Amino acid sequence: MEDRYHREINYLRVSVTDRCNLRCRYCMPPHGVSVVPREEILTLEEIVRVVRASTRVGVKKLRLTGGEPLVRRGITELVEALAAIPEIDDLALTTNGILLAARAEQLKAAGLRRVNVSLDTLKPERYSYITRGGRLEAVWRGIEKSLELGLHPVKLNVVVMRGFNDDEICDLARLSLDRPLHVRFIELMPFGTAAGVSREGYIPAAEIRERIEQQFGQLQEVRKLTGSGPARYYHLAGAVGTIGFISAVSDHFCGRCNRLRLTAVGALRPCLFHEYEIDLKGILRRGATLEELAELVARAVQEKPGRHHINRGQPGTGKNMSQIGG
Ligand code: GTP
Ligand code: 5AD
Ligand code: SF4
Repeated sequence: MEDRYHREINYLRVSVTDRCNLRCRYCMPPHGVSVVPREEILTLEEIVRVVRASTRVGVKKLRLTGGEPLVRRGITELVEALAAIPEIDDLALTTNGILLAARAEQLKAAGLRRVNVSLDTLKPERYSYITRGGRLEAVWRGIEKSLELGLHPVKLNVVVMRGFNDDEICDLARLSLDRPLHVRFIELMPFGTAAGVSREGYIPAAEIRERIEQQFGQLQEVRKLTGSGPARYYHLAGAVGTIGFISAVSDHFCGRCNRLRLTAVGALRPCLFHEYEIDLKGILRRGATLEELAELVARAVQEKPGRHHINRGQPGTGKNMSQIGG
């Protein structure tokens, strides 16, 4: 359905857990963020119910996120149940990739269409540093497996941070040359833990693009790549894959925003950057009908703010990405 700003809202990002098997420096403090007790997290049945209600107000595209969605028990069953909802025409997953090689086959069989995998560096020691202990090799196995299984388009998410990985921008872009990989460079956003890092670490997409063009020549814009997100895509000359930019800070894409978020604890969040949420868990657990739930989803659509102002000094939210659902 349309919101007050004539944006068509048809994409729901579902966070299935606030837990994660990594501790990325820009996302979490070393000890992790306090996770909520399990009974606070929506059950798989409750998630399916919210999704069914949201299709009544026009949701067609789903993405499962976290935390790390693959640490949630029953994730394959959830995918299966969601894939069986006839109104849903895109079902994707955003993952850090650590458990992907082991799960990809089952997920594909259950009806998952495609994956976006976080990959901030090509250097194993650096990966381990940024994620506080993650093994890059495991992520690569997950990426290879996804390509093999045809979970296309396989997109890579690179959060660019000055002094951390900006020296690898061109090496990462090069991954799109020989294989159908879609390498997306993301501006670091000022969330909870990242708020400190982002002041020195933030690099605008325009600068990232300039560095790539210096090395590879002018980028050609790509008209269409399957996806519902805010990235803009380009080809390096002769490349099989693409590179993309997600300029959440320098050039906000709120005017094209098409999404709502469902947090792991069952709140609908109309905007990543506004704390406003509508609790669904309460009425779900009191036995709400699909109509009643759909009414609240419609209200969330109507409450979507026009835009965020993080580039004009609006503080990022106090929560981390893992708590809201990237
Ligand atoms: P597709 O285009 O459908 O593949 O999905 P996507 O790019 O929306 O999904 P993904 O989970 O891979 O998100 C990539 C990055 O986009 C996230 O890390 C965020 O940095 C950013 N992003 C996603 N949704 C929003 C949003 O609503 N607002 C802002 N500012 N950034 C977002
Ligand atoms: N800014 C930008 N992207 C972030 N992510 C996590 N924290 C931030 C941040 N502060 C990314 C992850 C993952 C996606 C879901 O969100 O790297 O790719
Ligand atoms: Fe986990 Fe993703 Fe946060 Fe890294 S960015 S700690 S992978 S939730």
